[in-house]
Amino acid sequence: MVRRALAARSPDEPGRAHGRTRQVRALNDRRTAGPQESCGRNEERTLSNHPVGIHDLSVATGSHVIGLDELAARHGVDPGKYHVGLGQDEMSVLAPDEDIVTLAAAAAQPIVERHGTVGLRTVLFATESGIDQSKAAGVFVHRLLDLPVTARVVELKQACYSGTAALQMAAALVARDPSEKVLVITSDVARYDVGSSAEATQGAAAVAMLVTADPALLEIEPVTGVHTEDVMDFWRPNHRSTALVDGKASVEAYLRAADGAWTDYVARGGAAFDDVAAFAYHQPFTRMATKAHRHLAKAARTRLDRDEVDAQIATSTTYNRRVGNSYTASLYLALAAILDDGSLADGDRIAMVSYGSGAVCEVFSAVLRPGYRDATRAAETRALLDARTPVTDERYLELHRDHDSSAPDRTNPVETSGPFRFVGVEGHKRIYAPASEA
Ligand code: CAA
Repeated sequence: MVRRALAARSPDEPGRAHGRTRQVRALNDRRTAGPQESCGRNEERTLSNHPVGIHDLSVATGSHVIGLDELAARHGVDPGKYHVGLGQDEMSVLAPDEDIVTLAAAAAQPIVERHGTVGLRTVLFATESGIDQSKAAGVFVHRLLDLPVTARVVELKQACYSGTAALQMAAALVARDPSEKVLVITSDVARYDVGSSAEATQGAAAVAMLVTADPALLEIEPVTGVHTEDVMDFWRPNHRSTALVDGKASVEAYLRAADGAWTDYVARGGAAFDDVAAFAYHQPFTRMATKAHRHLAKAARTRLDRDEVDAQIATSTTYNRRVGNSYTASLYLALAAILDDGSLADGDRIAMVSYGSGAVCEVFSAVLRPGYRDATRAAETRALLDARTPVTDERYLELHRDHDSSAPDRTNPVETSGPFRFVGVEGHKRIYAPASEA
């Protein structure tokens, strides 16, 4: 956390981001200025003063977990390389009857149970690890959760970035009509070749978010900074189930893109570095957040020593250290960790740095809503991580190999501890069902 920024101001000082921020007030001034005389239903909706943001956020991950000491032994490296050098302790592993659909449905189910489906007209499913070249994975989720037929469902792709595109699109839809709600789901399994140096940076998770007007958790601020550059740092051709990566180039591309997006964010009127209470970064491995934070602090001419950098991003890494890379979900796991920690005050600002190889980066910010702690799911997420079943390296290798199956017909063993199952494949069609039907 950026304690310095917090400590420097009292809650009542005018410069402090308290509830609605100056950025948001400025936008609302623009929204309410001028066209108020014409007051048809469309205008009423378009010119709404409702803050828009994340109302609820829920996490799911694989049923299994492997400690990285197991991997270090097979790779013949000092475990410190993973624990300290990469900042990773464990990675989630999927059971054979789990995939991005079952994770996504498991993440979204508690949101639907808590809020119902009234007003839910859009489901945006962001993933790098799509299961079909044509059909959106979210359509399977739509059925599993019995969502309204009066909804649009679509899948978004741009490596680890597309969850943020989905969130921005959701915010725009809700700003247009505050009676609508959008379910954004980020769900991925990060898979590299066995034996590669990237193997220790795998993992799996889904984060579902309900985007609404008058949100309980976070108000998304209107200013964003973006950066796109055609670079082959990480990619996955259609015929492959594991990603290809130029590791060193990918770290450089991430830092360059983060710099570009941050510069654009500031140029467009975004918050100053010291006015941010916490930073959440995309975390392919948690040390990447350290590298990126050091890089942005330098770009912002804020002097931070190594311990200050570590301390400022430590909270945001607690879930990712245990889950591993989850591509589109990774940034939102960092956000979940900050929310669940609960040490930020109402009205504090969080900066989000979203990177997707290839490469697109977006920086945006969000402000904590009054009483946000009452809407978090800290106990559930921690219990979920603690409940995973540890697997040996031998079992992990079996699961990794079997995941590659493209057989037109298969029946998966019953193994998941989650609420939904990937039952198998019949005539090239994937079959999903509630786990209770097994
Ligand atoms: N104790 C403590 N630290 C140690 C150590 C030990 N015993 N041994 C090594 N280290 C340190 C190294 O000094 C190094 O630190 P620095 O990064 O500060 O230099 C760190 O551990 C990693 O060591 P190496 O650079 O030798 O590691 P590597 O070459 O085997 O692989 C990697 C690292 C390139 C990240 C590789 O894991 C990889 O390719 N991962 C996938 C790609 C990736 O995650 N890229 C990130 C940006 S791209 C992105 O963000 C999109 C996405 O999600 C993929």
